[in-house]
Amino acid sequence: MKFSKALQYFLILWLLLFFVPFSATADDFENRDANQKCFRCHGQTIYTYYNDWIERDVKKMMNPFYMVDSGDFYKGSHNKFYCTDCHSADYEEFPHPGDLRYEPIYTCIDCHGGEEKYEHFKFEIIEEEFLSSVHTSDKIEDFTCWKCHDPHSFSLNVRNGKSIREIVAYANNVCFSCHTNQNKFQLLSENKKSELIVQHDWLPNQGLHFNKVRCIECHNQVHDSLLVAHNVLPADQAVKKCAECHSKNTLLLSTLYKHKVIESRSEKGFVNAVIINESYVIGATRNYWLNLISIIIFGITLAGIVIHGFLRIIIKK
Ligand code: HEC
Ligand code: HEC
Ligand code: HEC
Ligand code: HEC
Ligand code: HEC
Ligand code: HEC
Ligand code: HEC
Repeated sequence: MKFSKALQYFLILWLLLFFVPFSATADDFENRDANQKCFRCHGQTIYTYYNDWIERDVKKMMNPFYMVDSGDFYKGSHNKFYCTDCHSADYEEFPHPGDLRYEPIYTCIDCHGGEEKYEHFKFEIIEEEFLSSVHTSDKIEDFTCWKCHDPHSFSLNVRNGKSIREIVAYANNVCFSCHTNQNKFQLLSENKKSELIVQHDWLPNQGLHFNKVRCIECHNQVHDSLLVAHNVLPADQAVKKCAECHSKNTLLLSTLYKHKVIESRSEKGFVNAVIINESYVIGATRNYWLNLISIIIFGITLAGIVIHGFLRIIIKK
């Protein structure tokens, strides 16, 4: 009898220990339930609401530009946010009150400016650089950080150690999203967007280059203390010389590979070892030992010829 009691307690304890860890991880995102109130409509192509006048449910299509992907949202840097941290709580009402349309919206600096926790990102310098870039000229009034940083999916790539391929794809999609989309472009400019393929027809293997380097390598001014340069220069100041990248002192070390250079100062053997793992850039990636061996072989051959010639002269004499 006593033994079976002990066994019972043991089993209960075992069950508890087994399940506790699972229940603890089940509720990672406390904001999920509250946000579901908004995702119910903004996360679907078709949403339903109750129409008081005709007293029944009505189905409608959601405007695709007002859709927010919940998967992307919970993967982003601001995944613990409630929608109503940035938007008015009055959005819980439907139909949404008309005057919410005029509501001013936070900027990154409103939350991140002067905050010690985010000092290493250097938000103030980023803002300065952004304000001197081509996107904030007098002609374009509504360009904000949000135009490049989707408020509902912003995430870190370089700093989170994503692969070079992912870093390049993410950053270039930011630029493509406008520079290959006349509608989005028109929101900001009276001009017609230029064709990227035509503007870059001087660059061979365009597709390969756009997969292997970011637009900002050539278009942004390098800034010593920023991990990601933010000053987009006028097009006539962009990098056009091949040797800026295809050389030993390649520009890529202070741009795309900057974080890798900071991580690993010296790796003997390869010149620009940080690049060679990812990519073979003609002129920029070489092997120290291979270079040395080829020089030695060249030297031995040369010495052989000289000695051989010398011996022949002596023997002839
Ligand atoms: C019943 C469906 C429904 C729910 C629930 C809903 N919305 Fe909306 N929302 C819409 C529709 C439809 C529009 C576009 C028409 C309009 O503005 O009313 C919209 C527009 C918006 C806009 C853009 C307004 C503008 O004109 O710029 C924002 C921002 C927004 N909703 C936020 C929210 C937030 C935050 C929540 C949750 C607290 C929420 N919505 C809940 C259906 C919904
Ligand atoms: C970190 C702040 C932030 C959070 C959190 C946030 N939003 Fe937004 N949202 C914005 C900003 C900023 C804009 C305006 C973007 C622009 O002007 O380019 C916006 C725009 C919108 C729009 C209108 C789209 C448009 O182009 O005007 C909708 C709809 C919307 N948000 C819904 C949501 C929903 C639903 C959630 C929660 C899942 C949410 N937002 C969470 C900052 C946020
Ligand atoms: C409404 C306030 C608010 C706004 C607006 C806002 N942020 Fe944040 N941001 C936060 C908070 C709070 C956190 C910390 C979130 C956490 O710890 O989960 C954060 C986190 C971050 C992080 C750190 C993420 C990480 O993984 O360490 C970065 C980077 C960031 N935000 C960039 C931005 C950028 C860029 C913008 C504008 C495009 C912006 N934020 C707008 C409040 C804001
Ligand atoms: C023209 C497009 C563009 C604009 C405008 C822009 N950014 Fe960025 N930003 C980028 C790209 C591309 C990245 C690289 C993303 C990555 O790899 O993490 C980035 C990265 C960042 C990062 C992460 C840097 C790090 O050290 O990890 C922060 C923080 C940031 N931006 C803040 C801002 C703020 C604040 C503004 C407005 C003052 C702004 N950005 C405007 C394109 C832009
Ligand atoms: C939200 C839309 C949008 C995004 C995102 C965007 N741009 Fe632009 N860009 C524009 C507009 C609008 C202009 C101004 C065109 C004009 O002169 O009317 C412009 C101008 C430029 C110019 C200047 C061209 C000249 O005439 O000198 C360059 C270079 C440029 N963008 C590069 C980039 C790069 C690189 C990125 C990504 C990091 C980027 N843009 C992201 C909309 C965008
Ligand atoms: C290898 C360097 C390099 C890369 C990578 C690059 N560009 Fe360029 N881009 C240039 C140069 C140089 C010019 C100026 C061409 C000229 O004037 O003949 C230019 C021109 C432009 C223009 C034309 C502005 C105008 O006059 O209308 C835009 C916009 C632009 N680039 C955007 C981008 C975008 C977006 C990407 C990424 C997909 C990108 N560039 C990638 C070097 C580059
Ligand atoms: C912003 C840096 C940058 C600039 C500027 C640049 N390149 Fe490249 N180039 C690269 C990278 C990175 C690769 C891809 C290497 C790989 O395959 O991984 C590449 C690849 C190439 C290739 C293909 C090699 C192969 O393996 O097929 C050729 C050819 C080339 N570049 C020529 C040029 C020429 C010519 C110019 C000047 C008009 C130029 N590049 C300017 C960075 C650059």
